[in-house]
Amino acid sequence: MSELQEKYAKEINGILAKYPAEQKRSALLPLLTLAQRETGRISDEMVEEIAEIVEISRTDVISVASFYTLFHLEEGGLYRIQICTDLPCALRGSADYLNAVCDYLAVKPGQATTDGLFTVEEVKCLAACHFAPVMQLQGRGEVRYHENQSLESTRKIIEEIRAAHQEEVTA
Ligand code: FES
Repeated sequence: MSELQEKYAKEINGILAKYPAEQKRSALLPLLTLAQRETGRISDEMVEEIAEIVEISRTDVISVASFYTLFHLEEGGLYRIQICTDLPCALRGSADYLNAVCDYLAVKPGQATTDGLFTVEEVKCLAACHFAPVMQLQGRGEVRYHENQSLESTRKIIEEIRAAHQEEVTA
């Protein structure tokens, strides 16, 4: 049995049970979400395994996963700090905000921190322009919006995550 099925057999069966047996491919998005939850990305092995589970080709899994910006096939941090730099956010200082967050974490946009916890990404409009600058935090199967952001408010979020992670690894 492969890794996902070993770890998440019950959840996978629960997802598959929601769809007719001949429509297993409909379970693809929830299975990708499940696969990404623990590590923040979908590895080649996971792609292979999901393709087997829903009985479609590996290429079909990759084409769906790469279509949605919230799925990540590439290496990255456990959490993605996605900062909007589209016009309304730009007018409210998102370029400086993005640079300040990157400097704080000592990364460039697209890079992961050395502890593997965060990747900062520059993204397009997150549909909350009236609360610019906006940051979307993705990780552990959740996506949260943080509006009216500054380095100070984002730093607080980052440090809370770091502390929670530290507690988890030392527990
Ligand atoms: S431009 Fe940033 S949320 Fe719309």
